[in-house]
Formats: sequence, C-alpha cells, structure tokens
Amino acid sequence: DSVEELSSLILQSLSKTNEELNSILLAAELNIDHQKVTGAIRSLLAHEGLISTKDVSEKRIQLSEEGLDMANHGSHEYKLFMTVGVNGVSQKEVQALPFAKVGIPKAMAAKWIGTVKEGNDVKLVQKIAPESVLDKVGELLKQIKLGSKFDDKEMADLKKRKLVSEVVIKGFLVGKGSKFSTEISKPELDLTAEMIQNKTWTDKTFKKYNFDALGVEPPSGHLHPLMKVRSEIRQIFFQMGFSEMPTNRYVESSFWNFDALFQPQQHPARDAHDTFFIEGLLRSQKYKYNWKEEEAQKNVLRTHTTAVSAKQLFLLAGEGKNAYRPAKMFSIDRVFRNETLDATHLAEFHQVEGVIVERNLSLAHLIGIFTEFFKKLGIENLKFKPTYNPYTEPSMEIFAYHEGLRRWVEIGNSGMFRPEMLLPMGFPPNVNVAGYGLSLERPTMIRYGINNIRDLFGPKVDLEMIQKAPICRLDKTS
Ligand code: PHE
Repeated sequence: DSVEELSSLILQSLSKTNEELNSILLAAELNIDHQKVTGAIRSLLAHEGLISTKDVSEKRIQLSEEGLDMANHGSHEYKLFMTVGVNGVSQKEVQALPFAKVGIPKAMAAKWIGTVKEGNDVKLVQKIAPESVLDKVGELLKQIKLGSKFDDKEMADLKKRKLVSEVVIKGFLVGKGSKFSTEISKPELDLTAEMIQNKTWTDKTFKKYNFDALGVEPPSGHLHPLMKVRSEIRQIFFQMGFSEMPTNRYVESSFWNFDALFQPQQHPARDAHDTFFIEGLLRSQKYKYNWKEEEAQKNVLRTHTTAVSAKQLFLLAGEGKNAYRPAKMFSIDRVFRNETLDATHLAEFHQVEGVIVERNLSLAHLIGIFTEFFKKLGIENLKFKPTYNPYTEPSMEIFAYHEGLRRWVEIGNSGMFRPEMLLPMGFPPNVNVAGYGLSLERPTMIRYGINNIRDLFGPKVDLEMIQKAPICRLDKTS
C-alpha cells in the first residue's frame, strides 16, 4: 500500500461512482491506517482540479491495548472460564495467571464459575456448560475492532474497564474535481513557445507558482563587521564636517611615526619589542647632535595613524611655508604593534584618528566634539582624564561607561598638539591643532557581542560570522 497505489485506488473508486468517498470508512474497509489514506489524498490534492475535498470528523471508539487483546483472544472472564474447565482447578494455581485478577470476580459475578472446598484447598469450577456461555465483552470488542457502532449504554461498561476510549478522527470526503481523471499527469513546469504555437497549452496542467519559496541566495562577497562599523563611523565624521586622510601606506619612516611627534629615539616604545622595523631599507646618515637621522630613516610598520596625521599636518601647513587653512580630518585604518596576543590584544588593529586645525582651539572644543561624536554612536556617559603624550599638551584619555561590563573603559586618547611640533611645520602661533586616537575594534566587539578580539579579526575568524553579521547601526543603541 504505497502512496501511489493508494492514490490510484482512490481515483479508481471515484471513477466508478458519483458519491463521495469517506477517508475514514475507506481506511476501515482496507484495514489500513487512516493516516496513510489522508496522506494519499493530500498527494492527489497537489494536482489542481483532480479531486475535491470536504473535511469530516468522526467520533471513533478506540480499543486500548487490553481491549485489543480481548478482541483477539476473548475477555479475561471468558479465558478464566475456559481454563477452569469442568473438572475445576485449584484457586491458588489460577491466581497466578495474568487474567485471573479481573477474570475471577467477573466470571463469578456472571455466575459462570463457582468454588468448591476440597480438604484445605479451594477449587474453582465451571457452573454452567461451555455451550451456554456467550463472551459478550469479547464479541463486542471484536465488532468494535471491525468498525461497527454501538450505543452509549453498551459502551459505558467497556469505558469503565478502560478497554475502549473515544477519539475524534479528522478525515476527508473526497469527490471528483473539475479536471478529474484516473491518470495522474505530471504538471508542466514551463510554458514553452511550442505550446503556444501549436495551442497544446490549453489542455495541459501547469504547476502552480510557489510565491512563498525562498530564492537562491545570490553568490556575493560580504563586508567584514569591522568594515561595516568603519563605514558607520565614516558617515558620522562626514556628517560632522570632517574629510578623510589617505592612510593607504602601512610603512612609514620612523621620522613621521616617532620623531615628528617628539617620541625620543631612546624611548622604549621605539625599540623592537613594540615596533615592527622594516629591514633592508636602511641608509647610513650623519648624526646631528644627539639625534640620529639614521634612526629617523628606519622604516616601520606604523604603530599609530598619528604618523599619517603628522605628515598631513605638515602638508596642510604648506610644508613649512606658512600656508595654513582650517581643517577637520579623520582616518580609520590599520596599525601594527609587536604585542603578545591575547583576548584583547592583536598585533594588527585599527585606529580611528582625527585632527582639528583652527585658531584659538582648546580642550573644551575637543570635549564638545567627543560628546557629539559618541552621542551619534549611542554612548552618552563619558569621562575625561588627564594623561601624558610627548606630542600633545594638555592630553586626555576618554572613558565611556560600559553598561554590560558595569565599569568605565578607556576608548581613546587625545590632546592639543604641542607648539614645538606645529611651529616647525609652518603653522602660525595662534593656530591650534587638537588630535585624538580611538579604537575601532572595541565598539565593534561591544556591538556584535564578541568577547575575544581574535574571533573578530585575524586568521581565526569564522567566515560564517562574516557572512551572517548584520549591518550595524551604532546610533540605534544605547
Ligand atoms: N596616537 C595616540 C595613540 O595611539 C592617540 C592620539 C592621537 C593622542 C592624536 C593624541 C593626539 O594612542
């Protein structure tokens, strides 16, 4: 009874009559599971116009396991009666049988059996001839199993004995459809030019469009979450009137990375533990006082994007020729530090950098800019703390209250560039430059709920994460 066989049987039955076919009766007739019949009907419904259906439901009496056993082998009392026999059996012996517990009292009540005393023992014996015993319960259950219906009175005792229960079966009344046929034709999937030309399309069935089907995902690249956050932050800076600095060169001379920023040549941060020096490009230069040009010529992978800012400031000031104009510039790009890797440290990470060039600027302006910028990122709880940088004075660190971690976290460093740095570049004395460096990874980790920086960036990143990461809207969070 495969679905195909059952389906064609249903179609054959329908073709022979104009009456509707009841799935529940059909299942009983065929002595198969009703669900198999409804399955076959559902498969026929997939062919448009082949059959029509109406819902029907029927209360059904269902046999319990015990009830089914009785329908097949007789009731407990009947089995007991047959076991006892005309000569009788010791009551003790009978009590060991599985049907005795219910069978003995029932058979006694029906007056089929009785007890006789034999010395100290009690014997059970048949009281009437086997020909005159009718196993009413067993017969009733057998009829129920075959699908006959009985009135409530007859059912009450069986229900009480938990031999039967009532269930509602949901089925179909099946009739012929507008395009009824006993043959199932496969519907056409495409309407072709030929079908239109020779008009054969008129007597063809077409497969219905499934408008709910999901399309095939087009193969495409996916932006890394960091890049999505970067473009968010870029948009915020553009809104605030900043322009972008070119940061496409990872290799800088030590001069722009350190010397222009008054980072002393003997400074520990300059040594090989923190900086990736680029080999093979060293040229021997003369010493100048304490300062070695040779040291400044050494190429490094930039340790901060402030190297770019310094060079941009020099260009902005007219390369020493005092051709200053006001500017607000930012950059977001990669920096390199020779650090021990852990959950919060990478040797390559990203900085969000900026400089503001204007007359009579102060830290107050910088605080104003941070307040606005971080508000757009969804961070409103800020604290500023004095700090030291060789190239800025005053300098301040920026802290934000992290609701998740329930503590203040450092999110950036900033300050007013020192005149020792600005004057030689060619800026007039009353022009001030404010600068800052922020992290790109930190807000990204917070926004995407990533606890280990290595899950966000680097060789251990899961490509699925990149594919599935939603677009980030920083300003929609708080
Ligand atoms: N370069 C600093 C850092 O890497 C940030 C900074 C930039 C501070 C500009 C002041 C001015 O932390």
